[in-house]
Formats: sequence, C-alpha cells, structure tokens
Amino acid sequence: MHNMETAESNIQFKPETLKEIDRIIKQFPEGKQKSAILRILHMAQEEFGNWLSVDVMDYVSRLLHIQPIEVYEVASFYSMYNLNPVGKVVIEFCHTGPCCLVGAEKILKHIQTSLNIKTGETSSDGIFTLKAAECLGACGYGPMLQIGETYYENLTEEKVDNLLLTLRTKHS
Ligand code: FES
Repeated sequence: MHNMETAESNIQFKPETLKEIDRIIKQFPEGKQKSAILRILHMAQEEFGNWLSVDVMDYVSRLLHIQPIEVYEVASFYSMYNLNPVGKVVIEFCHTGPCCLVGAEKILKHIQTSLNIKTGETSSDGIFTLKAAECLGACGYGPMLQIGETYYENLTEEKVDNLLLTLRTKHS
C-alpha cells in the first residue's frame, strides 16, 4: 500500500478515490509509478474544484513519490489541466495554423467579444473560461473548440452564438 497520507496540508482525496489511485499505481512496474500522473491529475482536478493548485500538485507528487517540479511540468504542459480557478464551462479553442487558415481567429475574436474576455480569462458571471489550445486533432473540421470531452466543429459565428446561449442557460 502506498502512503496516501498528507502531512503538509488538509488536501486529501476521498477514500474511494484513494483506493482507485492505489489500483492505478499498481498497474505500473516498480519505479514507473510516475506514469500514472496524467490519470491522477484528472482525478485531482475533478475532485478539487476543476483546477490544480500548487497544494494539490504537491499532494499528487507525494502520492507518486516524485518531486513537485515533475508534477508542475506535466500539469503546465497539457492544456486540459487548469492551473488557476476556472468557470463552470472551460472552452478550449484551437488556435493552431490549419484552423486559422479556415477562420479560427475571426471566431475567436467573436467569442472574446461575446463574453467580454480575453483568452485566459473567465467571464464576469463565472460561467465561461476561454483557453487557447494547440491542435486538437480535428484540423479537417476547423474552426473548432473543445468543452470537456465534446468537440464543436466547423464553427461559424452563428453556431458559437447558439452554443454560448445554450451553455449560459444551462449553467445560470
Ligand atoms: S489545427 Fe485545429 S484541430 Fe488541428
């Protein structure tokens, strides 16, 4: 059994989550437990308010018996991890070349204007956070964005308006 206690802070996964984490870690050979980090960071984000504070990342490093910097590096590399508090809906907008060639910049500007925020910010009603993402692998269907596990593709200003309205209604 791995040491799942945290002496340095009150952050603690629920017992059932710790059990699942222990199971995941044991799937990797001795010395390779670090490979469980992506899954565990997802679980941390789910359980601790949809973002990863330094305290949470330090906690994960202790669970995996690795240095905190190793967790920071992974968490800051992938856009699906939030390093600051976010709104209820996190929009990951692809701003890579192929999507830009088919109008991503115009759509992004439209979203920024509609929500009155810049990329990286959260709307004043606390509902939307807008993030820029590198290629999300749907280049043939750009402009596109991702919310949670759902892709929204071939975006137009009208489609974006409808999407934002639907989400705002749902989360108000
Ligand atoms: S460039 Fe946007 S999905 Fe690939």
